[in-house]
Amino acid sequence: MSETSFLQLAGKHVLLGLSGGIACYKTAELIRLLTKAGASVQVMMTEAAEQFITAVTLQALSGRPVLSSQWDAREPNNMAHINLSREADLMLIAPASADFIAKLAQGRADELLSLTALARPMGTCPLAVAPAMNREMWAHPATQRNVAQLIADGTQILGPGAGEQACGEVGDGRMLEAAELFEDICAMLAPKHLAGKKLLITAGPTFEPIDPVRGITNHSSGKMGFAIARAAREAGAEVTLVAGPVHLATPRGVRRIDVQNAQQMFDAVLPLAPQNEVFIATAAVADWRPASHAQQKIKKDGSGAAPMIAMCENPDILASVAALNPPPFCVGFAAESEKLLEHARAKRLRKNVPLLVGNIGPATFGQDHNALLLVDARGEREIPHNDKASLARQLVQDIAQRLHQTDPKA
Ligand code: CTP
Repeated sequence: MSETSFLQLAGKHVLLGLSGGIACYKTAELIRLLTKAGASVQVMMTEAAEQFITAVTLQALSGRPVLSSQWDAREPNNMAHINLSREADLMLIAPASADFIAKLAQGRADELLSLTALARPMGTCPLAVAPAMNREMWAHPATQRNVAQLIADGTQILGPGAGEQACGEVGDGRMLEAAELFEDICAMLAPKHLAGKKLLITAGPTFEPIDPVRGITNHSSGKMGFAIARAAREAGAEVTLVAGPVHLATPRGVRRIDVQNAQQMFDAVLPLAPQNEVFIATAAVADWRPASHAQQKIKKDGSGAAPMIAMCENPDILASVAALNPPPFCVGFAAESEKLLEHARAKRLRKNVPLLVGNIGPATFGQDHNALLLVDARGEREIPHNDKASLARQLVQDIAQRLHQTDPKA
């Protein structure tokens, strides 16, 4: 397979409209993210937007001339508003000012952007809107009325975020950051293999305290589990992520529960497991913990003798979930340092799970790339070396097929 075929948005065409607002600068970064992921982007801007960012910048980033007038004679049939939306997979207005939202709500069409939004085929080109305005403008009943109307008309509202605003005030109304908009667009355009399904995922290492300043942990970064959570959300699932101590941002639209040690992870997972159709255990759970946790830092006693730390076994979260009656569809991970297939097969049987995903631990911990070996009752198949986001999407698709085979009505 060619490198580009893994690009998440390869072949997708996005119509990106800017109305007036300081947040126009964020849209430049968004175009870069979209094109890097393989999408083609056609930019349109209103007269007001041209006050905030130049068409030159947006043309350079998108690689296409920017359109701003319905009278643009470059379109052979002079119907840019029709032509543009017929080939698009999605139309996004970012930033969407209060005034532009009001126009959309009323179905007005007196310039190219609103004209195109109205003329777009709603069945093939969904509309998303990223509001950007002062907090009082956002909270105003007129704006809220207009937004409610847009939602009723089938428009997806992305954000707004809260925080410090360009005017110096603090509150709701900031446009989402480019990376957040990008994640939402990916989710809108992704095939919905897991629509209506609930997934529970563990990720990251656990940290087993010895005393208030030390503990036992491992090199798991949590990247694979977080990538699976994101891919599952994109595929339409409702995702809960139980995460050990990691330095990763929560994927958009995913519910996250932070824990430190294996017992806390067990306590968070077990009550939730019966409410989920799928449980994916990517966490590198510590097998043992210090039997007792010193309340104060253990000090050297001057004798040169190292302290003896008694250990006890942690509960096996995956095996406990797999033993539920009925269990969710359980997927285990095995990070091995050698004999991957042999260990993965044995581990699948030992944990009594239908699917076990093997990988070479030391080669993958903390990395952005990996390769996966899927082992089930019938045999094994490899998902070849790729970035973790692509592997996660392929794994999610594989799990969705397995769910469908178990229950074809699902
Ligand atoms: N796992 C778990 N709870 C534990 C230990 C492991 O849920 N206490 C899960 C992991 O999340 C993973 C799978 O079990 O999905 C296998 O984990 P791994 O550490 O590779 O296996 P172990 O059971 O620890 O076996 P071994 O140490 O013999 O390799």
